[in-house]
Formats: sequence, C-alpha cells, structure tokens
Amino acid sequence: MLLLDIRFATARNASGAVAVVVPAGGDTTSASDDPSSAQLAAARFAAVRLSLGRLKLGPADLDDVTAFLADVEHSGSAGTMHKLPRPGRRPDRLLFIGVGAGEEADWRAAGAKLAKSASSEPTLMVVLPDDVTPAAVRGLGEGLWLASYRFRLGADDPPALRRIVLVPPSGAVAASADLAAGLALAKAVAESTVLARDLTNMPSDEKTPAWFAKRVEKAAAGVPGLTTTVRDPKALAEEGFNAILAVGGGSTRGPRLLELSWRPRGARRHVVLIGKGITFDTGGICVKPLSGMKLMRKDMAGAAAVIGATLAAAALRLPLRVTAIAPLAENALGADSFRPGDVVRHYGGTTSEIYNTDAEGRLVLGDAMAYAVRRLRPDAIIDLATLTGAQGVALGKRTAALYSHSDTLATSLAEAAATAGESMWRMPLHDDYADALDSDVADLVNSTDIGAGSLMAALYLREFTGGLRDQWAHLDMSSSAWADSADGELTKGATGWGVRTLLRWLEATA
Ligand code: BES
Ligand code: MN
Ligand code: ZN
Repeated sequence: MLLLDIRFATARNASGAVAVVVPAGGDTTSASDDPSSAQLAAARFAAVRLSLGRLKLGPADLDDVTAFLADVEHSGSAGTMHKLPRPGRRPDRLLFIGVGAGEEADWRAAGAKLAKSASSEPTLMVVLPDDVTPAAVRGLGEGLWLASYRFRLGADDPPALRRIVLVPPSGAVAASADLAAGLALAKAVAESTVLARDLTNMPSDEKTPAWFAKRVEKAAAGVPGLTTTVRDPKALAEEGFNAILAVGGGSTRGPRLLELSWRPRGARRHVVLIGKGITFDTGGICVKPLSGMKLMRKDMAGAAAVIGATLAAAALRLPLRVTAIAPLAENALGADSFRPGDVVRHYGGTTSEIYNTDAEGRLVLGDAMAYAVRRLRPDAIIDLATLTGAQGVALGKRTAALYSHSDTLATSLAEAAATAGESMWRMPLHDDYADALDSDVADLVNSTDIGAGSLMAALYLREFTGGLRDQWAHLDMSSSAWADSADGELTKGATGWGVRTLLRWLEATA
C-alpha cells in the first residue's frame, strides 16, 4: 500500500483539522519539586498557548481553548486526545493530543492516536512545539504511518486522509536538517514494516515461495549495494539443503532459499539475519486442527521481518554488511510429504530424525543457519521465527522470547526493542534439557515430549550455530507477529514485528 504523504510546511492557511500538542507538563519524575496539579495545568496551557499563537488565534479563541482544556481536564498523557469543533471558524477543528513526557514512545502513541482519530479528515496539520526533537519526530512519523496502515485485496475506497503537514517549531520556515532526518528514519521504518505486514497478510494461495522471492527481488531492484540470490529446488538439491526440500516436498509449489545482501563499501561488521519463511503451515502429515491452522499464512513473518530490516538498512545506507536469509517453503500435506521417522541430512551434514512434521520451522532454519555459519562467517547471527505456540503461552500476545548465550547481544537487542516500541523477554537455554534432543538414529530429533516447547526449539537451533554459538540470538516471535485487534501503532492482522527492533539494533551496531 501507499504511505500517507507527510511533509513539513508552515502553518499558513490552517484549515481542516489541526493538532495541538499537550505535554504532561512539569518534571513529574523528580520527587523533590513535586508540582501541584494547578502548576502542571498551567505549564500545559503555556505550551498550548505557544502553538496556538502560530495559528494566529485571537484572544477570544484562546479563552475558549483555556476553558475547554480545563473542562475536559486534559492530562497531557501520551495518546490522550480531546477534539474541539469550531464550526465556521478556522481551523474548524482542533485536536488536543497528549505527548506525555515527550519521549519517542510518547510521540509514537500520539501519532497512532492522531492517525486513527483523523482518518476521515481530508487533511491534518500537526503544530510541533519548540522543544520537539528528531526522536520525537521519528516517533510521531512511525505512529502516524503505522497506525494508518490497512491491507486490502481487490477493489478499495481510497483513504480519506492522504496528507499530513508538520509545522516546524516557531521561527523556523522549514524543518531543520535534524528534524527532517528524524522523519526520514520514520519513513524508512514505515516502508519496510508495511512491506513486512503486506507479505504476512497476503493469503497463501498467492503467497508461494516463488512469489515471495519475486516480490522481494522487485523491492530490491535498482538499489545500489543490494543484491538478491534465489535458489530453486534444483539448486537446493545440488547444494544439499535437504531439510528445506523435505519440508517443501509435500507442496506442488516448490521451496526457495532467498538471500538479500546489503554490502556497502568499506563495511567491517557483517550481520546475518535469518527468518523462518513457511508460506503456509498445515502441520504436514501431523496435520493441525483448523483452530491451529487458520492463521498459518503468518508463518513467514520472521522472513518478512528480516527482509524488511535489511531493505531499511539499505535505504538508510547503514555502514555495515547485512545479509538476510529466508528459507521459504510450504509445509503441505501431500503424497510427497516428509513423514515422522524420516531422517533428513541438513546442509553441512547434521542429521535430524523427524518426530513431528509440524516442527518444520527449525528444520528449514537449521539448513539456513548451517549455510550462514559455513559460507558467510558473519560476526553475528540473529534468527526470527514464528516457531512455537508455546512462546505465546509463556509470554502472551505482545512479547517475543529472546534466547542468546551472549549477554552483550541479548542486552543490546532488548534495548533496541525497548526504544523501537517492541517487547521481548530473555529466556534461558537450559543445557540440562539438551539431552532430550538425542536421537537413536540421527544427530537430533526435531521435537520432544518434555514440554518447554519454545526453549527446546531454541536448543535445537543452537546445534546449527557452529563456532558462532556465542554470537547468536534467536527470537521466537510467534505471538507478536499478529494482532487480533488494533492497538496503538499496530493494526489488526500482521504487525511487522521485528523490523523496528532489528533496524534499531543495526543502527546502534553500525
Ligand atoms: N508455526 C508453528 C508455531 C506457531 C503456532 C506459530 C501458533 C504461531 C502461532 C510451528 O511450526 C509449530 O507448529 N510448532 C509446533 C511445535 C511442536 C510440534 C513441537 C507447536 O508449537 O505446536
Ligand atoms: Mn508447524
Ligand atoms: Zn510453522
């Protein structure tokens, strides 16, 4: 889908809906000067008055606004909004939007709220306060763009709200380079998150492995420094990617291995991002019941996220090498499906006994990880996968499970997630449990009966990290890939989870 047009311009001829920012006011974090609520309200109104001055409102209008804000008791907390209609006057609608303490996350919440409340307005203007930072503009842009996302196939009415004008701080005719850079970052995030959401929302009849690879080739075409490589079943067989072939074997729509590489000149660090790309997961011969299968078009959300993050890194020309790898396959039920009891030989030679054909994600990831370790020798490997239902049982709808032996990697990822507005929680890699992965006939079994489903999947993946065991992190994002209802900057359906965190992490690592 097309992104909303968001640009900087002056407040001249303000009409339609105009958003005025209301801070929570005062330094509410310090206990020493505990400001009274009257003082806070005064600070809030002083800030509002400055913005209104730029709209050239007269004294009578200011009195109206003061009375209105007092009446609704606007708290200024992030994302709280009160509308003041002004029929016959200009602007004809004021939206008072809270930005709390003014952190990036507060602005993101404010942007999301504005996008939803103003969705039927033809235009929206947002008056930026004097103390607005590039991080605030980034948060605002992300909130506006991500919350106004929608996925439609076929005929569609165009959205009413198409253009948003951001009015730079007073005195400035145009936005400073810093603020413009904040908006550019938000746009790169939004474009790649929207691509990840589109890919994930796409029904699986259309979304074959070949289709997915083509779609990414199209997105990468023409960007200098970006290259794609796609291996078809013949190439996969020649090079020994037998787990990807086994998982994809039951489908008439054959598997692919997609590699997207961002390689800027002079880059020293190299990060490999691997994403699970099961375009539909029936469970295979161990077929899922409808309740577990109906949303399994999202089982490639990890692949969508690593592709999105890598495209964004290229768009921002981040000075590090990034390779996204997506093993793409449909786990179908057919005459050529792989079976429980089969033994597959992964890329690099490790063998897995199939205990459950529904534990297919770790099989294809095993091939991809072994390939990355042996052939690309990166400085770090991060994999993202909708790997287990158990992850959501442990952590709920919005928080992904993070596994890593590296405290540095775990901490930096958690920090990136926190600023990006995504949530993750570190889980243990219990060595004691690893014995359960032993097989009588192969190196590993692909699933066990001992419980701890998300953790066991992580321990299984660890077997493919080779010498990079301590430079590896695994994110089980099964639940957070999808939202059952709109929530803040998330819209119902695919969330694009991981694009924002990975991009933040890459920015910090570059
Ligand atoms: N794609 C599923 C995991 C999943 C479930 C993702 C629900 C998102 C929501 C995965 O391939 C799977 O089926 N995992 C099995 C593993 C089991 C057989 C060891 C599971 O979680 O039941
Ligand atoms: Mn499965
Ligand atoms: Zn799956």
